[in-house]
Amino acid sequence: GNKNINAKLVLLGDVGAGKSSLVLRFVKGQFVEFQESTIGAAFFSQTLAVNDTTVKFEIWDTAGQERYHSLAPMYYRGAAAAIIVYDITNQASFERAKKWVQELQAQGNPNMVMALAGNKSDLLDARKVTPEEAQAYAQENGLFFLETSAKTASNVNDIFYEIAKRLPRV
Ligand code: GTP
Ligand code: MG
Repeated sequence: GNKNINAKLVLLGDVGAGKSSLVLRFVKGQFVEFQESTIGAAFFSQTLAVNDTTVKFEIWDTAGQERYHSLAPMYYRGAAAAIIVYDITNQASFERAKKWVQELQAQGNPNMVMALAGNKSDLLDARKVTPEEAQAYAQENGLFFLETSAKTASNVNDIFYEIAKRLPRV
């Protein structure tokens, strides 16, 4: 029969990687060129139907600025899923993403579904991180990987859908 599940999801990643933009695209279907840097964290919810299950995502969009780092555990604790976001045009953001993965592996829920999003895939000319490198890292660390673009909407619904499919069905 039909089921409804709630899933707490957290977005983590470097300043400017595009966390808020991905959420805005997924929840409202919008994109803004001058998205403001998040202060603390922002909450959104959105539902998605997967086969006979309706998943209600309770989404925490965290702030990438280092001064908010100490707040992060409040948002990833008890989370069923995480999207770790980097910017494909920024190598340092990929290194920061790996640090978040390490932190989640050490402190997060061990059953957490983790996705790695290489965002800004529309900016191909400025690419610094190859998909091969990111895919290899994701595979070694038990994440699934997609390149996304909040600007063009490429793979944005898909990443949430792939997470929803992987959530445990209680
Ligand atoms: P913090 O809240 O500071 O941690 O940053 P964030 O990860 O939420 O990044 P945000 O969504 O604010 O995006 C930063 C900038 O990148 C904004 O100017 C966005 O318009 C831009 N941006 C986000 N996603 C994309 C994308 O897919 N493509 C392009 N070209 N620009 C993007
Ligand atoms: Mg933000």
